[in-house]
Amino acid sequence: MNSKELRRRFLDFFERSGHTIVPSSSLVPDDPSVLLTTAGMQQFKPYYAELDPEKTIHPSIGKPVGLNAASCQKSFRTSDIDEVGDERHLTFFEMLGNFSFGGYQKEKAITLAYDFLVKELGLKIAYVTVFEGKENIGVAKDEESKRIWQSLGVTDIREQGMEDVFWGPTGNAGPCGPTTEIYCTNGAGQDIEIWNIVFNQYFYPGSREELDQGVSGKKLEPLKKFGVDTGMGLERLTMISQQTDTIFETDLFEPIINALPTSFSDSQKRIFADHIRAFAFLIADGVRPSNKERGYVLRRLIRRLMAYDFVGNAGSFSNDDTIGILMDQMFRKIVDMYNDFYPELRDAEESIISEYHRENTKFRNALYDGLKELDRMSLVNAQEAFKLYESFGIPYEVIKEFGKEKTATLTRGDFEKEFAKHQEVSKAGRERKFGGHGLVLDTGELKAANEEELQIVTRLHTATHLLQAALRKVLGGGVHQAGSDITVERTRFDFTFDRKLSDGEVKQVEELINGVIKKDMRMEYKERPFQEAVRSGALYSLKETYPPVVKVYSVFDEKTGEKFSSELCGGPHVTHTGEVGEFRIAKQEAVGGGVRRIRGVVS
Ligand code: ALA
Repeated sequence: MNSKELRRRFLDFFERSGHTIVPSSSLVPDDPSVLLTTAGMQQFKPYYAELDPEKTIHPSIGKPVGLNAASCQKSFRTSDIDEVGDERHLTFFEMLGNFSFGGYQKEKAITLAYDFLVKELGLKIAYVTVFEGKENIGVAKDEESKRIWQSLGVTDIREQGMEDVFWGPTGNAGPCGPTTEIYCTNGAGQDIEIWNIVFNQYFYPGSREELDQGVSGKKLEPLKKFGVDTGMGLERLTMISQQTDTIFETDLFEPIINALPTSFSDSQKRIFADHIRAFAFLIADGVRPSNKERGYVLRRLIRRLMAYDFVGNAGSFSNDDTIGILMDQMFRKIVDMYNDFYPELRDAEESIISEYHRENTKFRNALYDGLKELDRMSLVNAQEAFKLYESFGIPYEVIKEFGKEKTATLTRGDFEKEFAKHQEVSKAGRERKFGGHGLVLDTGELKAANEEELQIVTRLHTATHLLQAALRKVLGGGVHQAGSDITVERTRFDFTFDRKLSDGEVKQVEELINGVIKKDMRMEYKERPFQEAVRSGALYSLKETYPPVVKVYSVFDEKTGEKFSSELCGGPHVTHTGEVGEFRIAKQEAVGGGVRRIRGVVS
């Protein structure tokens, strides 16, 4: 069965079993505490706790999802980037999943998975795992799942702990719980985990690291609704169904792998195939190369692809762009392979190619020189690796791969420590530079020289919150603040978005803002614990570190209860939106790297 059929069969099966099929959400998530979408459950996260799935309109289907949903979700895991090159790890992958938000529980979740794999696809289950229990967090052994598996005739049931069979939470807080996993045998006779069935029975008010460390004051709280969240990698399912030895021999990768130069090692072919696909999908979701956050993830992928261009040819350096030509054909192939399920790829086809070439033209020589420098070095420790990054832009994984045994003692942890040290030094430099300026206000974002200016920048500051909220309403949740600077003349707001706003969109944004101003809504101010603020949906910046208790400013209509905007912010703000005056977008421009800039004025 080919991968397209498998995708279809999964969605059809779950639709027949009472699930609403929901399209994949973007790789750029709405949840600002997560860099990229890592799992199918992410777009449904609020349904497990605070939102009612039977009443809330889901933005991509225009109606409520109901109690049960299924999807094939584009996912990206940076945590696996060092593993790519082996037989089954990827950065970008497609995750098949079924979900229940207070609908069915363990019995039905396990039976559905069994029926799909065994009865629908005719596959064999090698073994399953269940949670062994953990006393100090108050979660007992999962006897129920064990019994259900036994009743289905599965005899090899293994007990595992937190590390393997306890999922979540993602980001700063969220639903989580014990899981049961299904293993099947691939063409090489290896048992591979293919399906993770999570029982979201708890909410944890912190990150996974905090849960693992047992941070004091944070405990698992039982969820009111029993949640089910499952995830099965399409690539692994295809490997099992097609009985290949690795995912790279399935129809999802073969066309790409076979087109690569024979001088590439197997591992290089796999990295290449993974990165080129991931690159295409990230571009199609509006990510652009930069030195920050997801833009930097993308940049690392491109630079590794570029490095292959120089050194891939049997280890000898060339700067003649042999792969550059091949690249265009590969991108087009990827678009052809996926565009019927992900039409956004066809729409982005020319951007995919042009973004690659733009980056290649810009950095080709530096990267080439850096790789030459690496070639000359005899031993590369964290300081030297960081210098290679800083001077030539070579990312860690490229240094590690092409430095081979010279980098034997280099670890990602040490490299990142070096990176952090450097960032602290440059931050200290910035603070000194801005000291002693004689302004009455300088928050970094807002500047005012006297009381009169202070009033104007305060109005512009509230207008900036309204602008961000309005942009997200008109252009979608992919819009995130990328920078902001407010002077007495104007607010200058940078945000992630891919193209110029149409005149209609500009007008819509202005009208939304002026509507809120006219309603004279209250600017509500609250201090709340950070996790609670984030859980309530307040926007915040990934670039900042926040204290445990934060200030949240929300624009709030006392009559209707409508919350127009909510952000973690230090202020100052007006008390009612009417004080802002009339807002107008004075100018829009591109900043580059998928970021747009709007200058707005108030009068
Ligand atoms: N959210 C679970 C996972 O990604 C299903 O493994």
